[in-house]
Amino acid sequence: MRFLLSSLGVLSVGLLVLGVWWFVQHSVGRGLSLATPAEQAGSRLFHPEAMAATAAIYGHMILGGLLTLLAPLQLLGPVRRAVPRVHRMLGRLVAGLALATGAGGLAYILSQGTVGGPWMSLGFGLYGVLLMIAAVRTVQLARRRDPAHRAWAGRLVILALASWIYRMHYGLWHAFTGGVATSDDFSGTFDRIQVFAFYLPYLALFEAVRLLWPSRRRSVRLAEGRAAPGRA
Ligand code: HEM
Repeated sequence: MRFLLSSLGVLSVGLLVLGVWWFVQHSVGRGLSLATPAEQAGSRLFHPEAMAATAAIYGHMILGGLLTLLAPLQLLGPVRRAVPRVHRMLGRLVAGLALATGAGGLAYILSQGTVGGPWMSLGFGLYGVLLMIAAVRTVQLARRRDPAHRAWAGRLVILALASWIYRMHYGLWHAFTGGVATSDDFSGTFDRIQVFAFYLPYLALFEAVRLLWPSRRRSVRLAEGRAAPGRA
């Protein structure tokens, strides 16, 4: 049974990596294109008068692309069990990428805002803050060997994938509705919902599943009345 579950897990992570691949290529490629005259001439994210903000947003594309690719690998149970050193090293790398990606996005928002105005800046800003908090908590708790590490790691993986989920929502919406309630300046109803809908519902679902389906270790703690209050 354990072997079957483990194989299913590896297969799911493999499919996830294949699924995000196009976005990883797009994001890293777009970030690296900063040096090209075509990108500089045609992109609204290139600001010659604000090169620090420009570097921050293009840098976050490269690092965020790597984050999207590497974060799901941390879910591989066999790697965690067989080579914990690799899991720990990759974990630090993923957390570092999440911190740098969040910081790059936030620096750009504070300097230039976003194409969708204050509402989009709020949604993306909160996203960046949550990503950075999840990265810090995941590493802190792992170092203390605190079981709450797993929950924070789960939140971190969801947030690391959320940028890809955002594009998937748009792709599916355009495929099924032709883009109803969207607009070029991101002021449509769908656009305005999306600035929060690419991460908050998934985090809520994760918390609901954790509540309804406690892990065996947590069930034992609860049954013995040893659940630490306030712990994730
Ligand atoms: C998690 C990995 C992330 C990846 C792979 C990623 C990738 C990208 C890419 C490729 C773009 C350019 C638009 C496009 O070509 O689609 C972009 C734009 C942007 N991203 Fe990210 N991003 C990530 C996380 C974040 C985070 C955490 C924040 C917030 C702190 C953020 C804030 C922004 C902003 C503000 C823009 C520009 C929006 C505008 O057009 O005004 N991103 N991102």
